[in-house]
Amino acid sequence: MPKPSSSPNTSQTTDITTLDAWKNLSAHAKKMHGKHLKTIFVKDNERFTRLSVRLPSILADFSKNRVTEETISLLTTLADARNLGAQISAMFSGAKINNTEDRAVLHTALRAPENARVTVDGQDVILDVHTALKRMEKCADDIRSGAWRGHTGKEITDIVNIGIGGSVMGPQLATQALAGYAHMRIRTHYISNVEASEMHRLLKDLSPDTTLFIIASKSFTTVETMQNATIARDKLVRHFGGDATAVSKHFVALAANTDAVKAFGIPSKNMFPLWGWVGGRYSVWSAIGLSTMISIGPKHFREFLAGAHEMDMHFKTAPLNKNIPALMGLIGLWYRNFLDFPAYTVVPYHSGLARLPAWLQQADMESNGKHITSEGTPVTVATGPCVFGEPGTDSQHTYFQWLHQGTDIVPVDFIAAIKTPYGNKQQQSMLLANCLAQSEALMNGQDNTQEPYRHFEGNRPSTTILLDELTPHNLGMLLAAYEHRVFVQGAIWGINSFDQFGVELGKALAKTIQTELTDKINGMHDASTSGLIHHITNTRG
Ligand code: F6P
Repeated sequence: MPKPSSSPNTSQTTDITTLDAWKNLSAHAKKMHGKHLKTIFVKDNERFTRLSVRLPSILADFSKNRVTEETISLLTTLADARNLGAQISAMFSGAKINNTEDRAVLHTALRAPENARVTVDGQDVILDVHTALKRMEKCADDIRSGAWRGHTGKEITDIVNIGIGGSVMGPQLATQALAGYAHMRIRTHYISNVEASEMHRLLKDLSPDTTLFIIASKSFTTVETMQNATIARDKLVRHFGGDATAVSKHFVALAANTDAVKAFGIPSKNMFPLWGWVGGRYSVWSAIGLSTMISIGPKHFREFLAGAHEMDMHFKTAPLNKNIPALMGLIGLWYRNFLDFPAYTVVPYHSGLARLPAWLQQADMESNGKHITSEGTPVTVATGPCVFGEPGTDSQHTYFQWLHQGTDIVPVDFIAAIKTPYGNKQQQSMLLANCLAQSEALMNGQDNTQEPYRHFEGNRPSTTILLDELTPHNLGMLLAAYEHRVFVQGAIWGINSFDQFGVELGKALAKTIQTELTDKINGMHDASTSGLIHHITNTRG
C-alpha cells in the first residue's frame, strides 16, 4: 500500500462524488447541456473581457468554453473543498507529495531565483540547482565559443541528445521552438527510439571528430537510452582506433545515478546532476535542458527559466478564477467529469511547437492516467483525458473534419504567437486568421437544413492562448502553465500525478521476450504472444 499522502489535504480521503461541490456541479451540468455558446455570447457582450486572463506577454481566452461564471464559481468551490491552495503550497515548499515514491516534487525550484529558499531533507535545493546551472553554463559557453574541442582538436558542430520520454520531449520541443536563437555553427539532434534506422541515418552523416553526445537519463538505466548510448560510444571509440580517452571529449551525462555514469565510462566532470525530486516529464528546466542551453545560449535559457518562474508566481498567487493554469485545469476537469468529453486536443499554430502535443501527452497522460487515489483506493470518477494534437494549419486538413462534424466533442486549445521574425505580414495574418476562424466555426457552427451534410451544430468549445511572440520567456510561461494544469486536476482527483508505475509491466515483459527472441527459447505466454514470437523467429531464420 502506498504511504498516506503527506499533503495537507484531509478531504482527499472523502469520495469526491459525495461532496456537495461535486453534486452541485452535476446538477449544474444538466442545466448547461441545453445551452449553446452562440446564445450565451449574444446575451453577454462582456464575456470575452471577463473570461480571458491577460498577463504581460500572454493572453488566455477562456470565453469560448461551455462555462458560465456560475460554472467557474462551482469549480473553484470544488477546488477549495479539495484544498487545492494548500496542495499548491505543499508542492512549492518541497513537501513529499509524491507519496508512493516518498519524494518532493520541485520542478518549480529548478526555475526559482538564486535568493529563494527551499530545503528537502535538510538540503538547500536552490543552492544545488544554481550550482548545477552555473556548471551547465560553463559547458555550454565552452562548446559555443569553441573552447571545448574534440579528441582531434576540432570544434563541436553537432550535439546528439540520446534520451527518451522526459529526457527528450522537453529539450527537443524547446530547441525546435527556439530555433531562431540557435548558435550558427551548432546543430542539435535527438535520438530516442531504439529502432535502429534513426540512429543509423544520423551517425552515418556526422563526423565523430566534431560530435558531442549527451546521454540524458535520470535513472541511467533506461534500456533504449543505454542501448543507443553504447552503440554511439563503441562507434566513437572504434573511430579513434580503440582510444577510450576520447569519451571524455565527446560524451556528457545528465543523470541522478553517479555510479552508472561512472561504469559507462563518462568522467564525473562531464556529469550534470538531477535529483529524486525532479520528475522526468518535468525535467526540461534541469540539466536535461543542456542541449537546449547549448543551442540557444545560457542567457536565453535563463529567460526560459524566468518565464516559467513568472507563471509559477501567477499560479501560486492569482485567485483561481483569474489564474491561467487553474482555469485550464478546472475547465478541463469540468469537461472530463461533468460533460463526459474523453479527450482534448492542442493545436499550436507554429511549426516550432510541433513537439508540444507529444510533450503534453507525456506530461498529462503519464501524470494523470491513474485509477488509484493517493490513499491507495480506486478512484470513483474519470481521470486524465486523452491528449493529442498537431500544428495548424496542417491539422485543419487532417482531423479537423472530425472536430467540426464528428459525433464526439473534443475541446481544443489553440495556441499562436502574434509576432514572428519570419515570413511576411500577409503570411502571418493568414495563419492567425485561420486560428481564429477555426475556434469561431467550432463555436458558432452553421445552420443548413437543406443540405444536412453542410450543417455544423457548433457549441464546440475551445481556449485560445496568444503569446505576444515565441520567445524563450514566453515558451517557459506556456510550458509551466500546462504543467500546472495537470497538477490542478490530479490534486482535485486526489491521485498521485508524479509516479508512473503503469509503464513498468511492459518493460519487464519486454526483457523476458527479448531473451526469448535472441536465444530462441520458448517462454510461457498466451497463444497470441507465442504465435507472434514464433512468426518473428521463423521469419528472421
Ligand atoms: O518509462 C517512463 C519513464 O520513466 C519516464 O517517466 C521518463 O521520462 C523516461 O522513462 C526516461 O527515464 P530516464 O530519464 O530515467 O531514462
